[in-house]
Amino acid sequence: MDQTLRLAADAEGMRTAVALLARGDLVALPTETVYGLAADAGNPRAVAAIFEAKGRPLFNPLIVHCADARMAATFARMPAAAECLADAFWPGPLTLVLARREDARLADLVTAGLDTVALRVPAHPVAAEILHRLGRPVAAPSANPSGRVSPTTADHVLDGLSGRIAAVVDAGPCAVGVESTIVGFAAGEPTLLRPGGLPAEAIEAVLDRPLADPSDEDITAPGQLRSHYAPGARLRLAASAPRRGEGWLGFGPLPDGVTGPALTLTRTGDLREAAANLFGHLRALDRKVGPDGAIAVAPVPETGLGRAINDRLHRAAAPRD
Ligand code: TXA
Ligand code: MG
Repeated sequence: MDQTLRLAADAEGMRTAVALLARGDLVALPTETVYGLAADAGNPRAVAAIFEAKGRPLFNPLIVHCADARMAATFARMPAAAECLADAFWPGPLTLVLARREDARLADLVTAGLDTVALRVPAHPVAAEILHRLGRPVAAPSANPSGRVSPTTADHVLDGLSGRIAAVVDAGPCAVGVESTIVGFAAGEPTLLRPGGLPAEAIEAVLDRPLADPSDEDITAPGQLRSHYAPGARLRLAASAPRRGEGWLGFGPLPDGVTGPALTLTRTGDLREAAANLFGHLRALDRKVGPDGAIAVAPVPETGLGRAINDRLHRAAAPRD
């Protein structure tokens, strides 16, 4: 691959994206959560190319993105609780892990050999339009090299994958900014496999019961690698202020007297704004402090979208090999 095309999110750009996907090329697409690296989910070579472009461990399965709930239902059996969640939250930032139908026409690599499949109907109008025109689902992980920070702009995508993918459709920054919430139904219990862009509280309100936590030995928990979403710099979490030489990622107004590189996720404590800013700010600070630098991070409340933000921060801070 020589050059990655930057396509406009207009009729022509979307037509080109659909044509590229239909012939098995990789195209990064905007979704409401983060940019996804899409390939035709029924084309084994195209799906394999995703793993190659990202340098992703082959055992990590991919989310299948569908145009609507009807398309999704052709790939998996939906227990009543799953239908209820699909009705309430699709299209939107919710992924359901369900029992895969035997006749589901999906490349085996998509599910990494599991008998379950992760399904999502994205709400972003550009992703939705492309999926409708393509008429079949795409497998799409976040469009970043494996283990690195997820992209929330087309520039982020190009920073990591330029020259390794056919195109990116540029629709500006993603509104939600963290990946979808993942819910599984192993043993019939709705289980929170990954906190994400849809607050767990909203899901529990619709189910009228609490979500179960995945058991420790649950191999299906996503982002199984503890160090994930990692910037180059080290992160120091729940800090009250930056130490000398540290960058600062704040929550609320910036503390007085900060001299190093500093950004705040939100001045007012708005968790939506904080989620939307998270990955972009991590990238910007990472660039400023450099790979041997450190970033101190203010505490973020553990409610609503704060759970997804804290989950990503803990992974970004985890020790690496
Ligand atoms: O918001 C999102 O979910 C974004 C956008 C592009 O849609 N996608 C995304 O994909 O975050 P990715 O590949 O970075 O994360 C998908 C997670 C992985 O950690 C994987 O382990 C989990 O979903 N997953 C996929 N299939 C699964 C399955 N059958 N059982 C359990 N977990 C699964
Ligand atoms: Mg990812």
